[in-house]
Amino acid sequence: MLIRSDNYVEYCRETAKHARDLHDLSLRGRHLKDLTQRIYQSIAQDVALSAGDDLVEIGCGDGTLLRIAEELGTRSAIGFLATDEEVALLRPTGLNVRQALSHNLPLPDLCASVVVCNGVLLNVPRENIPASLREIWRIAKPDARIYIGEIPAMEPVDPTPQFATRREALSYMYKKHGLRTWFGMLRRMAWWQISGRPMVISPGTATAFFASAEEFTELCSAVGMEIIRSWSPMYYPSRQNYLLQKMK
Ligand SMILES: C[S@@+](CC[C@H](N)C(=O)[O-])C[C@H]1O[C@@H](n2cnc3c(N)ncnc32)[C@H](O)[C@@H]1O
Repeated sequence: MLIRSDNYVEYCRETAKHARDLHDLSLRGRHLKDLTQRIYQSIAQDVALSAGDDLVEIGCGDGTLLRIAEELGTRSAIGFLATDEEVALLRPTGLNVRQALSHNLPLPDLCASVVVCNGVLLNVPRENIPASLREIWRIAKPDARIYIGEIPAMEPVDPTPQFATRREALSYMYKKHGLRTWFGMLRRMAWWQISGRPMVISPGTATAFFASAEEFTELCSAVGMEIIRSWSPMYYPSRQNYLLQKMK
């Protein structure tokens, strides 16, 4: 039987296990490396990242922002990834990365002058959102610049259908992602069959959290953060970016 899992952390783990390029860790699509670079250049500008900063990035993907921080000579820069498998790929590049989830950050209070969390909270289960915002508040210094990006304003339609059979899943993979992905899935299915493991497909396309600007403002304000500016990114017009600060 084919089981679908929408556990995003497992999707991150699987992606890291089969990654062919570091940029696969951005989970944005292999052909969108330039977009990742542009997104992070503009985040660095939005938070005015500079040499005196202590940067914390939650869900640092392929480490693009940490590399920008390195070039700027920030005082410190640490990134968190959801799984040890992602960390194992990124750490050999020399970046300071660790495994942790957004609702439980292994950092002391008031350690960050800049906190960035882009394209992450939409995949965090809704019940963990208040705790994740509290963690961001806790680690941020009183005058920290806080950037939370790519929050869908409305519930997006999940593009991956439910598959009743393996054949349906394989046919979808071929049409949507091509021969290589089809073959990869076929090999995995064969391995599951031989090893007697459950056949679990993690498409990673379901959205766990979305919020209108009003609702997100309330969630942030409940933990002591206020929104200074919000806007829709040109590349994802149905999502919202937020620049925040701690309330005085
Ligand atoms: C869609 S990728 C975005 C990566 C990067 N921020 C970017 O914009 O290119 C999601 C990232 O969030 C991390 N992640 C997934 N679930 C997480 C969670 N619950 N807490 C913290 N990070 C998480 C993954 O390890 C991955 O780096």
